[in-house]
Amino acid sequence: MNILGIESSCDETGVALVSCEADGCVPRLRAHALHSQIDMHQAYGGVVPELASRDHIRRVLPLARQVLGEAGASLEQVDMVAFTQGPGLAGALLVGAGVACALAAALGRPVVGVHHLEGHLLSPFLSADPPEFPFVALLVSGGHTQLMRVDDVGQYELLGETIDDAAGEAFDKSAKLMGLGYPGGPALARLAEFGDADTFELPRPLLHSGNLDFSFAGLKTAVRTQLLKLGTNVCEQDKAHLAASTQQAIVDVLVRKSVSALNETGLKRLVVAGGVGANARLREQLGAECAKRQVRVHYPELALCTDNGAMIALAAAMRWQRGLARARGDYAFNVLPRWPLNAA
Ligand code: KG4
Ligand code: ZN
Repeated sequence: MNILGIESSCDETGVALVSCEADGCVPRLRAHALHSQIDMHQAYGGVVPELASRDHIRRVLPLARQVLGEAGASLEQVDMVAFTQGPGLAGALLVGAGVACALAAALGRPVVGVHHLEGHLLSPFLSADPPEFPFVALLVSGGHTQLMRVDDVGQYELLGETIDDAAGEAFDKSAKLMGLGYPGGPALARLAEFGDADTFELPRPLLHSGNLDFSFAGLKTAVRTQLLKLGTNVCEQDKAHLAASTQQAIVDVLVRKSVSALNETGLKRLVVAGGVGANARLREQLGAECAKRQVRVHYPELALCTDNGAMIALAAAMRWQRGLARARGDYAFNVLPRWPLNAA
């Protein structure tokens, strides 16, 4: 079974070809290609939805051709087309959905809508060290911060989530306040390497709340207040200290809550997925805490941490292997910009 996956939920167009057998072996990534729109949105300080949709239209078919070429496969060899059905930007999602359904209709093949976060949380199955079910998943992206108990594909129990900003948003908004551009997460992380995380005392919201929910909105307010105190001529060193302190505040909360989720569930595996999972400090601290508890941590390959088509094709493949792929025969499509994962 060859599955072509298309991701277009936000500011990255991703296409991939994954092959799988019905026997349940981990699917194999044949090829994947990605176009990031970061350069285009940078001038606006954030994603402009209309521009995102138009760019997806321009990129998706050339990327599909590239992927098939690299995999040495023809279009006729595609047995199923998968696309991100939600959550995400409605217009951007519609591009992927429209192209996927048109391709599938032309080929007479089934088409499957995939939940973006399911793609993220299954993405470590394409790594050299794939996890085994069950596990706790920490999903940390630009739009979501969630802890889930994952018993198998499609069996997701929400343990806790953010009540306001996502962890990625906290990185991005703080970075924007510091003038680091968009998306700020990686830029803030780079600057943090030159700073001392103990310099500024920043809040760790809900750290001791007794549940597994998160709140990051207060952090950017604290960063703004700190910047006002430092004045307009804030030096590069203070900025680096503030970046390090901000990163540490976010990482402390993510690590503490992940450990609590592991304790509560008694599970010994943690999967970290989503763009913020690329953060080196988070990886280092989670690694240390999990090692103390004999917990194994699994990450996607670095290239598959942020949005990509491989995770979408993979999720469709793993669903198909379990008879859970919701293939549609009529090629009519809709997208679900707001779609809770436990409803997927
Ligand atoms: O999963 P993703 O690519 O897209 C969404 O589905 O949202 O995540 C993007 C988020 C952005 O907020 C970005 O700033 C953040 O992941 N991010 C990072 C790093 N790399 C990406 N945040 C902190 N450190 C990083 N190294
Ligand atoms: Zn994502």
